[in-house]
Amino acid sequence: MGEQIPRIRHLVLVPLPYQGHINPMLQLGTALHSKGFSITVAHTIYNSPNPQNHPHFSFLPMPDGLSDSDLASGDLVSNIQVINENCKESLRRSLEQLMQEKELQGDTISCIISDELMFFAEDVANNLKLLSIILRTTSAATSFARCGLLKLGGEGQVSLQGSSSHDLVPQLHPLRFKDLPFSLTASFGKFAVLMEKAYSNRTSSAIIWNTIKCLEQSTLEKIQQQSQVPIFPIGPIHMIAPPVSSNLIKEDRSCISWLDKQPHNSVIFVSSLGSIASLSEKEVAEIASGLANSKLPFLWVIRPGSIRGSDWIELLPKDFHDAAGDKGCIVRWAPQREVLAHPAVGGFWSHCGWNSTLESIAEGVPMICKPCFGDQRVNVRYVSHVWRVGLELEELKREEIERAVRRLILHDEGKEMRDRATKLKKKFEICTREDGSSNYSLNELVNFIMSYDS
Ligand code: UDX
Repeated sequence: MGEQIPRIRHLVLVPLPYQGHINPMLQLGTALHSKGFSITVAHTIYNSPNPQNHPHFSFLPMPDGLSDSDLASGDLVSNIQVINENCKESLRRSLEQLMQEKELQGDTISCIISDELMFFAEDVANNLKLLSIILRTTSAATSFARCGLLKLGGEGQVSLQGSSSHDLVPQLHPLRFKDLPFSLTASFGKFAVLMEKAYSNRTSSAIIWNTIKCLEQSTLEKIQQQSQVPIFPIGPIHMIAPPVSSNLIKEDRSCISWLDKQPHNSVIFVSSLGSIASLSEKEVAEIASGLANSKLPFLWVIRPGSIRGSDWIELLPKDFHDAAGDKGCIVRWAPQREVLAHPAVGGFWSHCGWNSTLESIAEGVPMICKPCFGDQRVNVRYVSHVWRVGLELEELKREEIERAVRRLILHDEGKEMRDRATKLKKKFEICTREDGSSNYSLNELVNFIMSYDS
């Protein structure tokens, strides 16, 4: 008698609508749902997640104002600005209404957790007096470099024109100019403005990070020393959350039965673009020849539309299928984590998006690294020169590709990288155990959120 029914605590998640950002945010939602929170995902109409994959979540669509021509432009920076301008009012109104409904039920909205680039959500949280937390989906090294660059650039200490150089960047070792996470072109100014917003004058009360102490401890410590708010490194989030798929493109599972027929550690898995980058017909021809000439089995993800000027694989060289024979399997989209965990996979050719990097190390798979843009360059530098679990492909040339694939799969050098990756995999397993550092941080995060509305 008189026992109080515990209040339900709701969290509102606001992901940036790109696959590499949606995945960690929805994995975070799954992890926090398993801790007893109720989850609402406020999402743009563009790239909206499939509610059927997340039956325990509620969804709140926000008109994003992105036109067909915005989307066709491929201008990420502008599109992120458009989203930030258009979603604010709609999120504010929807949450006001939701707060009233929850109050009537005796429940409460505890917090808004937003992607570091969805700035408007932080404003809305301030406006509605809700706790606000940021999720950072890149490596700590990337953030450290971006902050450092903004500072050094502002003080005139770094000439960004040295971009193509192999020289080390002062105060940002081990990064060379070519590894900087900014595109050093005419669009630098626009991107710098976005980065300035991502790192300066944030009003959120904490930062959640999809990274792991055993990989980035010293960088995390440096960041924590400079930060006014607590940081919770809970990554790789996919290892602490119950399994969930938030893919926007349908996975082709036929590649798993193809892998089942290949020898142990023999296949190079090629997913070299992630969800955003694209290639010219000429570049694709180099990759196709390099793979076929390596004479090793390959599983190649070619995302629809990622070869410029074609819908899918129409522009592959005419003789490619004969040259590759039954050595190759091409799919539109793969169940990547399952592929990386498959015993037939001996190496991963990746653009080194941060999710792919973590997923590869989590399975002990060594990498061929060829970044496309932004933070991927930093990740490649760390993978190849600090953690030494991958080799960097300098140029997209068929001979170099053939050599890199054979070095990774067949040579001692590749075996040594695999051994180091296996050691890191074991460390990941320890950190993500119930008593490991990532789970410890997750529990601290839960306590932090609860302490705000008890
Ligand atoms: C983007 C940026 O490019 C990246 O640098 C940044 O760190 C995050 O945002 P993206 O290019 O999509 O990400 O790469 P990545 O971070 O690797 O994320 C791709 C996700 O899609 C991974 O979780 C991967 O498992 C998944 N994926 C990719 C599949 O499930 N199947 C595929 O075939 C390819």
